[in-house]
Amino acid sequence: MAVSWVALVALAATALGASIAPEKQVLEKSSCGRVWVTVHSPEIRVSGSARLVDAVELNWDFNGCSNIPRQIGLFDARPTSWDNAMSIFSINEEDGHAVTSISLGEGALPAGWDVGPGHKGPHCLWPWVAAGDDQIQSFNCLKIQPTWMEDNAAKINHLRIGELAIAGTHNAGAWRFNTELSSVARDSFVLCQDRSIWAQLVHGIRYFDFRIAYYDFYDNEDDRYWLNHNLIRVRPLVPLLKEIRTFLDHTREVVFLDAHHFPMGFYNQDGSPIRSVHAGLIRLVQRELGPHLALASDFSTGAGTRGPTLQSLLNSDKRLLFSYVDNAIVSENTWLWPILPHLWANTNNPTELFQYLDQAVTVSPQPNARSPLHSAMAQTTPTVLDILFLRGSLRENADAVNRNVTARLATRWRQHANIVSTDFFLGNDVIDVSIIISVERGSRL
Ligand SMILES: *[C@@H]1O[C@H](CO)[C@@H](O)[C@H](O)[C@H]1NC(C)=O
Repeated sequence: MAVSWVALVALAATALGASIAPEKQVLEKSSCGRVWVTVHSPEIRVSGSARLVDAVELNWDFNGCSNIPRQIGLFDARPTSWDNAMSIFSINEEDGHAVTSISLGEGALPAGWDVGPGHKGPHCLWPWVAAGDDQIQSFNCLKIQPTWMEDNAAKINHLRIGELAIAGTHNAGAWRFNTELSSVARDSFVLCQDRSIWAQLVHGIRYFDFRIAYYDFYDNEDDRYWLNHNLIRVRPLVPLLKEIRTFLDHTREVVFLDAHHFPMGFYNQDGSPIRSVHAGLIRLVQRELGPHLALASDFSTGAGTRGPTLQSLLNSDKRLLFSYVDNAIVSENTWLWPILPHLWANTNNPTELFQYLDQAVTVSPQPNARSPLHSAMAQTTPTVLDILFLRGSLRENADAVNRNVTARLATRWRQHANIVSTDFFLGNDVIDVSIIISVERGSRL
């Protein structure tokens, strides 16, 4: 971990150097190890029937440091003195976390990003964390990273897309129902995220795993395409494509969209694709995102390679790569990117998940892979019985693995990880760690 810190501090020093305006102060600092803020995904029963949602968590990792700080605290502004801490916990181990009894609240996006495009660069939401003894030694905040690719362009633009480390979301569209019947925001087994696609982009997510379904009972073709979790409709697709469009129109970021599963309406009984339904989806994506599409037929570098560099995508100003799970459709539409391998453990057991991913990430990419990208699906999958008997919830499942995902990415997966997709991504630090790793890889070129 010490090495990564040198890289990040150097990054912070160059990107946000002291000579620049005071509002561009360093947001994150430590001489050894790291502290970071996450959000607790399950609700917590406080006393009696009172419940706390979105509790702020403080995390630390001082492995390999000669001095382990004595305490860690939560602050509502840049930490300067322990007197201003909202709560303080003692540190007894090299790495760990503390769950505060303070909620994140609305989590409004700072720097103008809540309502539309805002100011470039990383910005802090209100929670800050600091660790130290009498003096504060390390600090960090819960951030948005709306322009991290542009912010780090000089360091990462010569990386190929398969060489980047990228934070993604599993079932990216499965946040808050938006159907005729429901606008529920919290449930046990359907919703995998609690931030909109816009907010995910602003936080720094660049890969979206979409599960798209088709319902022919709507008159208007636009209304027939939905994002689902398996057989359950969550939100209509077109508004989400428009959010991605707005983001691409106003930034220089590259976004990866993956049509990874078609749970309803795209296939005949005999398993053959319904051509007209696929064609309708492809038309929608072309209509909404057309000017930004990086066509595989223009940019693909062939099987077993890592794809185009960020620089070549930026030079052509084509910054949306759309990958498609159906090989037959890809072969008829050669601008689609081929099936993007998901490293998926298909287990409800966290130990098995990490055993699988430790192996699968290490042997990726496969030498002859058609796609330059691969995605570690870093979430457990409930069984039918789990759902039937309401054993646990997707929030509890995410909580059981998200901290370990952050730790794995920083260590064992550091060399090989490409996309790491999670549920309830505010419960891990994959975005910031991925940026650190991408910068580190770029600096080695
Ligand atoms: C997750 O990390 C904790 C703390 O390091 C460890 O005790 C636990 O065994 C890990 N869980 C898995 C499934 O690897």
